[in-house]
Amino acid sequence: MLIINSAASTIGALALAFSALVQVTHAKDVYIDCSATAAGSGTKKSPYNALASVNALNFTAGDEILLKSGTLCNGTLSPQGNGALSNPVVISSYGSGALPIINGQGGQAAIKLLNQGGWHITKVAVTNPATTVNARQGISITANDNQTHTGIFVDHVSVYDVAGQTNKATQSESYIVSAGILVDGSNFTSRFNDVYVSSNNIQNCGGGGIKVRMGQMNNQGQNGHVWNNIIENVGGDGIVMSYVDSPLIDHNECSGLGSGHYPWTGGNFAGIWVLGCHNAVMEYNIVHNTLMSAFDSEAFDCDWGNTGNCTVQYNYGHDNAGGMFLNCDGCGTSGGANQFVRYNVFQNDCRMYSNGNIPTLWFYNNVVYCPNQHFNLTVPPKSHFWNNIFVGTADSTLPTGSGIDWSYNIFETVSLPAGGTNNTAGDPGFVAPGTGGNTTASVAGYKLKSGSIALGDGGVVTNNGGLDFWGNSVSATAKPNRGAYNGPAVKTSKHRRH
Ligand SMILES: *[C@@H]1O[C@H](CO)[C@@H](O)[C@H](O)[C@H]1NC(C)=O
Ligand SMILES: *[C@@H]1O[C@H](CO)[C@@H](O)[C@H](O)[C@H]1NC(C)=O
Ligand SMILES: *[C@@H]1O[C@H](CO)[C@@H](O)[C@H](O)[C@H]1NC(C)=O
Ligand SMILES: *[C@@H]1O[C@H](CO)[C@@H](O)[C@H](O)[C@H]1NC(C)=O
Ligand SMILES: *[C@@H]1O[C@H](CO)[C@@H](O)[C@H](O)[C@H]1NC(C)=O
Ligand SMILES: *[C@@H]1O[C@H](CO)[C@@H](O)[C@H](O)[C@H]1NC(C)=O
Ligand SMILES: *[C@@H]1O[C@H](CO)[C@@H](O)[C@H](O)[C@H]1NC(C)=O
Ligand SMILES: *[C@@H]1O[C@H](CO)[C@@H](O)[C@H](O)[C@H]1NC(C)=O
Repeated sequence: MLIINSAASTIGALALAFSALVQVTHAKDVYIDCSATAAGSGTKKSPYNALASVNALNFTAGDEILLKSGTLCNGTLSPQGNGALSNPVVISSYGSGALPIINGQGGQAAIKLLNQGGWHITKVAVTNPATTVNARQGISITANDNQTHTGIFVDHVSVYDVAGQTNKATQSESYIVSAGILVDGSNFTSRFNDVYVSSNNIQNCGGGGIKVRMGQMNNQGQNGHVWNNIIENVGGDGIVMSYVDSPLIDHNECSGLGSGHYPWTGGNFAGIWVLGCHNAVMEYNIVHNTLMSAFDSEAFDCDWGNTGNCTVQYNYGHDNAGGMFLNCDGCGTSGGANQFVRYNVFQNDCRMYSNGNIPTLWFYNNVVYCPNQHFNLTVPPKSHFWNNIFVGTADSTLPTGSGIDWSYNIFETVSLPAGGTNNTAGDPGFVAPGTGGNTTASVAGYKLKSGSIALGDGGVVTNNGGLDFWGNSVSATAKPNRGAYNGPAVKTSKHRRH
């Protein structure tokens, strides 16, 4: 009996230990339905009905926090703990219907993580409206503990109506942390690695769309990638990445920058830009219909403190009040990166501004189409303009100087700058210039038709990247076309053969 009792109690203790083990090793899923009347225990059958219940919990790799589709929660979701890069904690939705909404109700953010890594936020909607603007975000992921946090994924999230700060002139500190989505490890020696922000839809956010500041100038984050996001009508910058080694920003569309429910009210912003980065690449993006700010509002910007190469390629910009490109290497600590602006199409983006004389600009195989506006181009003292097509007005002027080299460009209407070589005046023979809309597909009118003087008559550029705007190859040795199109002449005959 004694033995049996002892065995029974041993089995009981083992069972208890086993269930404890199950609890700590098995990933937990917690469910939230803020429309439920009862508080619940966090299971799918009995979900929590308030964010506070989840904010009290500590999550680990593989855990999931699931909000019921079609519902609304008020407040800030700020769960504790860390996942892993390969197995993050997931914040997402369950059930069918509209994305669940978290309304921050004018608090700092709707979702907030501090000093945490290994998180994946997906398939939820966040909003954070207020009657007056302030330092606010839809999603805030920050660090101030001088540690490196790894693995932040934010995708398929809808972020809208965030009352972020809109005046960078008078409220710069609060402006720079205001955005739809903020990832910020810039505090002292904190840092984020592996930050992936993609396929989000961001509208009407004061301060800007996406700001990813991964570390500091001498402590850059690794693996930062922002792609496929749509950003509309935000009162400030479209996308900014700072303090990243080899950041990639691609296939995003930013429009209506400066406008929206929380419009710009002071200072400067730009479309897509990088600061304090090494070898930054901004490619295949569209930026359009940006409003003028104090001075900037260019579609793309290699700002200060960038090193290596800062590359802007395969993008389409149109109707941006500040024009196509800003060199702001002199706006802070100079990094002196080479600036490559190549194979882009700019329609009614007629301005370039340069503040900083150290970088060398390589501007080649672009189309700059400005038949109704003056060019307003200030460029670094060392600039190479090769193989571009400039369409301008007869009274526009282009910059000249002993270090500014104009070679193999085509100029329509606008006068050739003095001192160039192998430049040509005339009609470049575009298929249908001026017909670009808001999509990449809509710019096919900047391809070249039969008989174009731009075909096969450019100068060979070393390390030219090997591809044009449309993905046609560009030879390292044979003469390219001028402009952004390097394919064969496009047949424009209206009579199709059957
Ligand atoms: C969460 O759990 C981890 C691992 O057990 C622990 O190190 C950490 O202190 C906990 N954090 C909180 C906020 O309870
Ligand atoms: C959220 O707040 C709004 C406005 O105060 C209120 O109408 C709504 O009932 C709240 N919803 C929940 C689920 O708390
Ligand atoms: C981070 O580093 C700074 C500068 O050394 C220091 O002042 C601060 O206390 C540190 N913070 C933490 C949380 O260790
Ligand atoms: C870092 O964060 C701490 C705590 O939030 C704050 O007091 C401090 O001003 C921040 N410092 C920097 C350099 O951002
Ligand atoms: C920058 O680009 C040039 C020319 O394409 C290339 O030779 C060089 O290796 C690049 N530098 C870096 C740091 O990638
Ligand atoms: C060119 O742009 C500058 C700002 O960079 C502006 O001050 C100036 O008025 C513009 N000039 C013309 C001729 O449009
Ligand atoms: C101009 O083009 C011709 C023919 O391609 C070439 O021989 C010459 O070197 C070019 N001049 C310069 C300065 O590049
Ligand atoms: C392009 O987008 C702008 C708003 O940014 C809009 O006003 C315009 O109508 C759109 N154009 C086309 C062709 O869809």
